[in-house]
Amino acid sequence: MSRAPAELTAAETARVVGTVLAPLVAQGAIVRRPRLTAWAERRQTDRAARRVLGGLRDRYDGAPLALRLGPRRLVLATTPDDVRRLLEGTPDPFTAASNEKRGALAHFQPRALLISGPDDRRRLRPLNEDALDAAHAVHDDGSAFVAAVERAAEELARRVDAAGGLDAAAFSDAWWSLVMEVTFGARARDDLRVVDLLNALRRDGNWSWFRPRRPWLRAELERRVAEHVARAPSSSLAGRIRDADPDEAPGQVPHWLFAFDAAGATTLRALAVASARDDVRGRLVGELADDRGGPAALLPYGRACLLEAVRLWPTTFAVLRDAVRPTDWGGATVPAGTGFVVVSAFFHRDPERLAFADAFVPEAWWDGRADEDWGIVPFSGGPAACPGRHVVLLVASHLLARMANLGLEVERGQHLARDPLPATVDHLGLRFVAPPLAGVR
Ligand code: HEM
Repeated sequence: MSRAPAELTAAETARVVGTVLAPLVAQGAIVRRPRLTAWAERRQTDRAARRVLGGLRDRYDGAPLALRLGPRRLVLATTPDDVRRLLEGTPDPFTAASNEKRGALAHFQPRALLISGPDDRRRLRPLNEDALDAAHAVHDDGSAFVAAVERAAEELARRVDAAGGLDAAAFSDAWWSLVMEVTFGARARDDLRVVDLLNALRRDGNWSWFRPRRPWLRAELERRVAEHVARAPSSSLAGRIRDADPDEAPGQVPHWLFAFDAAGATTLRALAVASARDDVRGRLVGELADDRGGPAALLPYGRACLLEAVRLWPTTFAVLRDAVRPTDWGGATVPAGTGFVVVSAFFHRDPERLAFADAFVPEAWWDGRADEDWGIVPFSGGPAACPGRHVVLLVASHLLARMANLGLEVERGQHLARDPLPATVDHLGLRFVAPPLAGVR
């Protein structure tokens, strides 16, 4: 049963803004700002955020928390039932195209599904689902993607050999070449200008409506994307939309590229845990070695490790919805235009609901514990749930297993070696060192 939103006092509003919302915005909702993610890790900002929201949930008996930020009225969900109602109620009465998201994403993907209106959504959702083969754990073109992963893993192994280790920047170069190959085919691997343009526009997106648009950069991005789509082989993601409406299909691709950044961050965090825990590493490597599933095998343990990493350290800081019309919530009418916020770190690691809140428990993803809880939504849920989830898990699980096989150690690994795990982990600050003895590989 939902309860009517509780109006926070001015002091409570200040506490929520200062400890929950400001650190998320400061780190960069669209592209991370390295100095601020390092600061967030030092301060373990997610721990304070969880404490404040948990305290207010208890004080207001599980009612959602309403606050005002200038002209904007926001309601923060506090129970899994609230989350379920918002996500199942998408796109009407709760649109995923929230005010903040439209402001941020229009810098580089104004035609993308996530910020589309109801009519466009009816066409764009199936287009995205088909291209990403959303219904299947292993994408139709999975073998081509795993072949690209193998090339990336070899490149990463060479970098480890040359440098004696790996940091997030070195990982990132190889990762983006992999993403370009999966998205557009092997000929696009080296066009990292696309990634530079996207990142420049994503930095603008961090400022949402407050940063002027740079249409000339967006035009260059769109031109390059359209060229890649036009010559994409059929075994790439873009190859599957090559013959669709050229006015709207290529407009979906910047979101795919942007979203692969989150997959890279999650791969790095899962690798960090595997590098600090021999049992996790051993199971990842063993699963790949035992694999009898052909080139694009399903790797259930690897996938569950990634799901666990993105539960513990969510890459979508907050899932946002706006009410499109006045809506009843627990007997109160919530006006049209009200923004709803699901703070992922609070829900994913809530010790009051989850016995495994701060532990690394991949098993929770196949024994039903994670799936049955509407508060655990790293890929969202309902009609706007991430259609890229399976592609991400396929590509990232194959890369994770191959990298686990390098036998790397993670610096400052003592924090990751045992539970409870840190509330905030800055993936951009992760560093791995090669094992002292050769022969692990
Ligand atoms: C770790 C990686 C990823 C995570 C955690 C993630 C998470 C999410 C979340 C939380 C949403 C929904 C946001 C909302 O409900 O408002 C979403 C939407 C979406 N994602 Fe992902 N995503 C990831 C990677 C990808 C990739 C790689 C692709 C494509 C190749 C992709 C394609 C999409 C699309 C098209 C939507 C819009 C769905 C809609 O509006 O109906 N995602 N993703």
